Amino acid sequence: MKVSVTTRSGRELINGGLVLDTSATVADLQEAIHQRIKKYYPSRQRLTLPLQPGSKEKAVVLQQKKSLKEYTSGNSDTLTVVFKDLGPQVSYRTLFFFEYLGPLVLYPVFYYFPVYQLLGYKGERVIHPVQTYALYYWCLHYFKRIMETFFVHRFSHATSPLSNVFRNCAYYWTFGCYIAYYVNHPHYTPVSDLQMKIGFGFGMVMQVANLYCHMILRNLRSPSGNGGYQIPQGFLFNIVTCANYTTEIYQWLGFNIATQTVAGYVFLVVAASIMTNWALAKHRRLRRLFDGKEGRPKYPRRWVILPPFL
Ligand SMILES: NC(=O)c1ccc[n+]([C@@H]2O[C@H](COP(=O)([O-])OP(=O)(O)OC[C@H]3O[C@@H](n4cnc5c(N)ncnc54)[C@H](OP(=O)(O)O)[C@@H]3O)[C@@H](O)[C@H]2O)c1
Repeated sequence: MKVSVTTRSGRELINGGLVLDTSATVADLQEAIHQRIKKYYPSRQRLTLPLQPGSKEKAVVLQQKKSLKEYTSGNSDTLTVVFKDLGPQVSYRTLFFFEYLGPLVLYPVFYYFPVYQLLGYKGERVIHPVQTYALYYWCLHYFKRIMETFFVHRFSHATSPLSNVFRNCAYYWTFGCYIAYYVNHPHYTPVSDLQMKIGFGFGMVMQVANLYCHMILRNLRSPSGNGGYQIPQGFLFNIVTCANYTTEIYQWLGFNIATQTVAGYVFLVVAASIMTNWALAKHRRLRRLFDGKEGRPKYPRRWVILPPFL
């Protein structure tokens, strides 16, 4: 089979095209492109079918496991594909590891090291019990997330653009420092003992619930990450589509009830709005995939993320 590979501007990426076996898959084509241009390893490539000039439709993205024959018209032995360079890629595990490592390491710096003295604070710093518990709670949360990244999640996408590492690290690392600065501040005023216990107690229950939600999601896929998207069922998923986000939001609420800083609540609002947008997209995707037509199951009626509001 003869495959022409063009760029989005219509230029030929590989002069004269490539000749592949008739049984070749998209993955074989990506490997052949990689052999010809070393920097374009397979996960960096996005291959689509060409669109008619002026077409407003979305281009069909070639699926790695499918045979190239499935994308040719009729019995044709030629195929033209459009190549897009996705830029340098990193694995999802690398991305998540670095974004969570920042808050895990930076938060204790504000607790253990004389940061405030270096910033000009002269008095003696008295550490309240809530500040110590907050440190444990925070570190446990990010340690859990790193462990889940390596041992629980079964990602469907192999990689993410390298630029996302910088964007996500900026988000998590900055918020980590912002909250740590205020919770560990020498002028920090603790909440009542009862409020602290309610906050941390509720937050811990939500952290465990969040882990359990992630275990349920894990079991929807095979160990290789195959299986696509399924209808999550059981526990809170019977009520809400993104129960893992719901419990994540509630566990931050627990932390904020116990520590009560403006910085913590700002993070809660920003994180909740990010997760709400993602939850809406995930809810729409599951309803589209499970539409009850042609033998497909129908996605049950559920809240999206925060019952009884959404
Ligand atoms: N504080 C914050 O700002 C914030 C923001 C976002 C997330 N988080 C936390 O980080 C965790 C991970 O978030 P995430 O958005 O990366 O992952 P996610 O969408 O919650 O899913 C976790 C894993 O389960 C898989 N999955 C989700 N729905 C599935 C379904 N219906 N069928 C099969 N597999 C499914 C995902 O696959 P894919 O690889 O295909 O996605 C992913 O590997 C969250 O649950 C939350 O605790 C925190």
